[in-house]
Amino acid sequence: MTYPIHFAPLQGYTEDAYRRTHHALFGGVAQYYTPFVRLEHGTVRTKDLRDLRPEYNEGVPVVPQVIANGGEEMEQVVAVVKDRGYRRIDINAGCPFPLQTRHGRGAALTASPERMEQIASVVRRHTDVAFSLKMRLGMESADEWRQVMPVVNAMPLVHVTVHPRVAKQQYKGELHLSQFEALLSCSSHPVIYNGEVHGLSDLQSLEKTYGDRLSGVMVGRGLLAQPWLAAEYASGAKWPAAERLRLLRALHTELLAHYERLIPGEAQRLQKVRTLWDYLEPTLGRKQWKRLMKAGNMKNYLAAVADLRLSTAPQADF
Ligand SMILES: Cc1cc2nc3c(=O)[nH]c(=O)nc-3n(C[C@H](O)[C@H](O)[C@H](O)COP(=O)(O)O)c2cc1C
Repeated sequence: MTYPIHFAPLQGYTEDAYRRTHHALFGGVAQYYTPFVRLEHGTVRTKDLRDLRPEYNEGVPVVPQVIANGGEEMEQVVAVVKDRGYRRIDINAGCPFPLQTRHGRGAALTASPERMEQIASVVRRHTDVAFSLKMRLGMESADEWRQVMPVVNAMPLVHVTVHPRVAKQQYKGELHLSQFEALLSCSSHPVIYNGEVHGLSDLQSLEKTYGDRLSGVMVGRGLLAQPWLAAEYASGAKWPAAERLRLLRALHTELLAHYERLIPGEAQRLQKVRTLWDYLEPTLGRKQWKRLMKAGNMKNYLAAVADLRLSTAPQADF
């Protein structure tokens, strides 16, 4: 069995230009999720609205993600997203950052059946939208999900994505797989697994462990590190290093052209385009990666990009 691969939302990385270009060049991804759309001082940030522009997302299977702390915020963000023509929304119940959780948003929803119920009633009101939920196991302890599960199970959802950590771990440390297994057994919705998938062998081991009990796998940092991962998994064949490098360069060229239109200052443009490599150190090897990250101006940086070489060696998995 081959799982559909979902590209995780990654604030600062999987923005419109990245999603569109990744889809055009690499493919293999069933759905791309936007970084969460939030309310700030009662309105949605211009940056988030730009990311949702329908003309930028046309032809790309995009799911806008929203974050809200209860019924009122949820109504507002859902209205903004629907206004832009979307009828598919993912709800963030996983963000671990205190900036969100201390206001009751993100992972804090896993510790509050009351707030989750408010979210659920908004979901039930918008019968023309297909909702999904992305959650963690809890805030502090890995069995907290149990208290919200009855509410989650009663919500009409297309699926639930689970990152088997608690908020205080952020994105590191032990994956609580026995709690994940328990949640999988309790869920009345299809479940998508998310966390620390870095290569084909991780996907194969999920297949072996869970088989068709999972409806798909969501991959975040692993896809940033190896943008070809989903396509190779779908096709069942590893691509030659030269092909991976050709597409990686094409991704870079497109993103740079996009930022040239968007960001006038060279220093800021360099800072933004360089984020493409943030998670690529294991793929490129330390030396090449450092040269990209340390280049002090655009000229030196572009020379480092031009000199890039890929071998299949640095990734033990491939
Ligand atoms: C830099 C960064 C930004 C993230 N932004 C979001 C976000 O906007 N919404 C969300 O639900 N999760 C967000 N996440 C969590 C990822 O979607 C994902 O759940 C997490 O990275 C674990 O998956 P992975 O091990 O495949 O990366 C973010 C994670 C990182 C590292």
